[in-house]
Order: sequence, then structure tokens, then C-alpha cells
Amino acid sequence: MKRRWILRLSTVGLVTGLLFGTVTQGQAESKAQSGDVARGKTLFVRHCTGCHGPEGGGDGYKFLRGPDPANLRSPSIRKKSDADLFQTIHEGRPNMPPWNTRLSQKESSDILAYVRTLAK
Ligand code: HEC
Repeated sequence: MKRRWILRLSTVGLVTGLLFGTVTQGQAESKAQSGDVARGKTLFVRHCTGCHGPEGGGDGYKFLRGPDPANLRSPSIRKKSDADLFQTIHEGRPNMPPWNTRLSQKESSDILAYVRTLAK
């Protein structure tokens, strides 16, 4: 009788563990979903519109040489994964400075959440 209980308890523990594990993993993968869009917008206006334009259309600033700022409203952005965009924001691109020294992980997630609202 006692052994059965122990068996049941450990089964319940295993199932909850699996469920919980999947949920937290999902959250880690979807950085945009954990971000705060309103805060992201404030940060975007402060740091990104100079190049990417007020609406993220890539019309903020044209460089004489090298790639122009990306149009963040384009469908090609929507197709990219959160991880890809996060990496670009953190590490920069030609003509785009890396933001990992200036933005926290949380701030980057907020900005990413806002960027996700731009792409149609
Ligand atoms: C000094 C100008 C400049 C600033 C400021 C800037 N960017 Fe960029 N960004 C660029 C340029 C130029 C590119 C295109 C680089 C390329 O095509 O290789 C780019 C590309 C990107 C891309 C990649 C798009 C893709 O195709 O994957 C993302 C995402 C992005 N920027 C987000 C941001 C965010 C968010 C900020 C604010 C934290 C920001 N950028 C600030 C110039 C800038």
C-alpha cells in the first residue's frame, strides 16, 4: 500500500516536471513575448529611429557607403526568428552598432516585442 503511494507521487512529480519544463523552455525561446511593447517603443524611439525611421521603415538615415538601415516593417523581418533578431540587436551589423553594452537583456526583449508589432 505504502509503495503504491510513493509510485503515484513520483509519477505526478514527473508529469508536473515535464509540463513545467516545457512551459519555461517556451518562454526562453520566445523573447519577444516576454517583452513589454510600450517600454520597447520608448526605447526604440530613443535608440533606433535615428537610422530605422520613426515607424521602423528604414527611412531614418541613409549611409553613403554600405547597407542602408533595414526596413523593420518588411515581411522578411517577420519571418526571422526572435533569436536571429535578438542577435542582430545585440551584436550589430555593418553600419549598425552593437547594443549589448547599452541595453540589458530585458530592454532588448522589450524592443524586440515592439519590433514584432511593426512587421506586417
Ligand atoms: C547607426 C544606425 C543604426 C542604428 C542606431 C540602429 N540600426 Fe539597426 N540596422 C542598421 C543598418 C545599416 C542595418 C542593415 C545592416 C545590413 O543590412 O547588414 C540594420 C539592421 C537591423 C536589423 C536586422 C534586420 C535583418 O534583416 O535581420 C534589426 C533587427 C535592427 N537593425 C534593429 C535595430 C534596433 C532594435 C535598433 C535600436 C536598438 C537599431 N537597429 C539601431 C543601422 C542602425
